[in-house]
Amino acid sequence: MNIINVKNLTFSYDENKPILNGIDFSIEEESITGLLGDSGSGKSTLCHILCGIIPNAVGGVVSGQINLCDKNLRDCQMKDLAETVGFVMQDPDRQIVTSTVEDELAFGPENLCLEPKKVRERVDEVLELLGLKEIREENPNKLSGGQKQLVAIGSILTMDPEVIILDEPFSHLDEEYKSCLTNIIRGLKLRGKTIIIVEHDHRLIEDADRWILLEDGKVKAFGAPEKVKKYI
Ligand SMILES: Nc1ncnc2c1ncn2[C@@H]1O[C@H](COP(=O)(O)OP(=O)(O)OP(=O)(O)O)[C@@H](O)[C@H]1O
Ligand SMILES: [Mg+2]
Repeated sequence: MNIINVKNLTFSYDENKPILNGIDFSIEEESITGLLGDSGSGKSTLCHILCGIIPNAVGGVVSGQINLCDKNLRDCQMKDLAETVGFVMQDPDRQIVTSTVEDELAFGPENLCLEPKKVRERVDEVLELLGLKEIREENPNKLSGGQKQLVAIGSILTMDPEVIILDEPFSHLDEEYKSCLTNIIRGLKLRGKTIIIVEHDHRLIEDADRWILLEDGKVKAFGAPEKVKKYI
């Protein structure tokens, strides 16, 4: 079953040339999708639309149809959207808002007004899943790039969204953390999550189920990696 259906999506910040222009694709639930394309092709913009930052926080004009879990995205409240789509920004520093790892992981579910006991359970579970237990009391701003990236991902996972969008999650990571994150992403799929990963280096997303290749705000190719690879 498709969890995301996008039809003829067009977006512009103003009357200038559209940033996204007639985008079509669908994403099956419990899958991994790689989103590729040159710098400026519109990858982050597309992610911002799927998680509601555009137009709710940033503005701009969105047209076309986006269905998320069989609901029109336009009809979704921001709170429902936050529970359904988790977005990890390109720069984890922009996402960190508290002064300890466990507070950072608790921030999302607390804002969703979950009971304190439930928040603690989710924080403990995600600390365990991401191997962050030993640094739970550390200040996230003082951690390495790799650890910060895991904390940023953890702060999304504690909201338990069905769809997880990671915008260039490997870019701050050394080889060890890259393979650690690859394993975490595989594990999330096995737990039933749908994952979208933005990445320039297609070698890091070889085991994705589908790739979407953007070029100049349009889908240049969409489908199995071996098919899309011919267009890169
Ligand atoms: N706030 C903004 N106002 C106007 N134009 C913008 C804004 N943010 C991005 N753009 C433009 O939108 C286009 C797509 O940008 P976007 O950040 O989505 O690309 P990207 O594929 O994520 O690039 P990168 O790989 O460098 O992260 C670019 O031409 C960019 O200059
Ligand atoms: Mg980007």
